[in-house]
Amino acid sequence: MKTSTIIMVVLAVALVFAIIKIVTTKSAEPTANNADAVINNIMTRTSIRSFTDEPLADSQIETLLRAGMAAPSAVNKQPWKFVVVKNKQLLRQIADSLPNTRLTTAACAIVVCGDMTKTLDGVGRDFWIHDCSAATENILLAAHALELGAVWAGIFPNPDRVDKLRVLVDIPETQIPLCVIAIGHPAENPSPKDKWNPENYRVIE
Ligand SMILES: Cc1cc2nc3c(=O)[nH]c(=O)nc-3n(C[C@H](O)[C@H](O)[C@H](O)COP(=O)(O)O)c2cc1C
Repeated sequence: MKTSTIIMVVLAVALVFAIIKIVTTKSAEPTANNADAVINNIMTRTSIRSFTDEPLADSQIETLLRAGMAAPSAVNKQPWKFVVVKNKQLLRQIADSLPNTRLTTAACAIVVCGDMTKTLDGVGRDFWIHDCSAATENILLAAHALELGAVWAGIFPNPDRVDKLRVLVDIPETQIPLCVIAIGHPAENPSPKDKWNPENYRVIE
């Protein structure tokens, strides 16, 4: 066999292996490659609203809070406060008063609040909503990475929800609850939604 033919065969085999590698690393399972694992975690997260009785470890809760506080914020103001609710009776009370929070079976809730004493002044004040939303998404992604389930339940800007939660969780007037994150070990296994839609972006070259 000619040398050039051997080289062609070797290259063809290498190409086949490369294609197999690309295809398999796009599967649902995280790989050893960190970038793949991070993207996969984002793409496979989905809201979980039903949970088992298993409690969360304190170390898991700390990881979730660390993830929240690692979020970007405008001028690095970090205008957030987190309330972790583990008390079963209070979780039930919140679930009864605010059914949208999906706390009926949750092991815990993290209430994400904007701290109005730390916001930017003037027109920048409302960046606290961006900042706390970034923190919330970080917590959702961290929960998914820990194989926990979670769902974001909107509170602000609904004044009725804000007032109810303020009383139930004793939130001071200097803070505004943006959302409640229900968290626990998943008792359901819904497929992630495919939201890719080329109509939702445009590129300016
Ligand atoms: C601002 C906001 C408010 C939401 N409020 C609620 C809520 O009150 N109750 C609920 O069950 N889910 C709530 N969700 C979760 C959405 O319903 C969910 O993210 C959406 O259906 C997409 O599904 P996915 O999270 O599985 O991708 C909220 C999500 C966001 C971002």
